[in-house]
Amino acid sequence: MAESPRVAPLTVDDIPALLPHLVRNALESGRDGEPFSRARSADDPPDTSAIAERLAVTWARPVDVPGWERGFGLWVGGELRGHLDLIGGEIESELHRAHLGMGIERPHRRAGWGSRLLGDAITWARGAGLAWIDLGVFTHNAPAHALYVKHGFVEVGVTVDRVRIDGQSLDDRAMVLRL
Ligand SMILES: CC(C)(COP(=O)(O)OP(=O)(O)OC[C@H]1O[C@@H](n2cnc3c(N)ncnc32)[C@H](O)[C@@H]1OP(=O)(O)O)[C@@H](O)C(=O)NCCC(=O)NCCS
Repeated sequence: MAESPRVAPLTVDDIPALLPHLVRNALESGRDGEPFSRARSADDPPDTSAIAERLAVTWARPVDVPGWERGFGLWVGGELRGHLDLIGGEIESELHRAHLGMGIERPHRRAGWGSRLLGDAITWARGAGLAWIDLGVFTHNAPAHALYVKHGFVEVGVTVDRVRIDGQSLDDRAMVLRL
């Protein structure tokens, strides 16, 4: 019988499964009527070797060391179909905060997995002693905005014309969650 989908923290052993998911996820951004969810064109795919090299180091860093990262994944039938990443502060004075990004591949959306990933990451961040989670979401990305509001994130401002992708100017909404 096929294994049920599940959400779990990611380890270095999961990096080979994460990379093709990140590529699939990037190809969906801003395409086929979907809002942009990353600050690059879908024609500009993620640099998978650079990501693999970086995560092998940053996922192993303790959370009291600048430059730490953590990942959480949605596994479906042995493949990663969703991810959430937390990126810790770059310098010592930012170590109480993490920046969040996430994405679920289209066929697996609206089934509660985004909410589950976010809930698990928030619980982990509280347990790790963090004080804030920060994120940026393009103002036209209504599904993601609704998800973040549902989990208690509040808006702290909008940067107009934050990026220009494929000839389109996008405004970015900064949101925070006090843990
Ligand atoms: C945003 C995203 C992660 C949501 O994941 P998901 O698994 O579909 O979300 P869930 O099924 O867990 O839904 C949780 C809540 O999110 C909100 N939501 C999700 N999809 C929505 C939609 N299409 N329209 C409105 N609200 C939506 C709702 O509040 C929903 O709660 P409800 O089911 O009680 O109404 C997913 O749409 C996605 O990956 N989008 C592309 C990438 C992206 O935008 N990432 C965020 C970049 S900042």
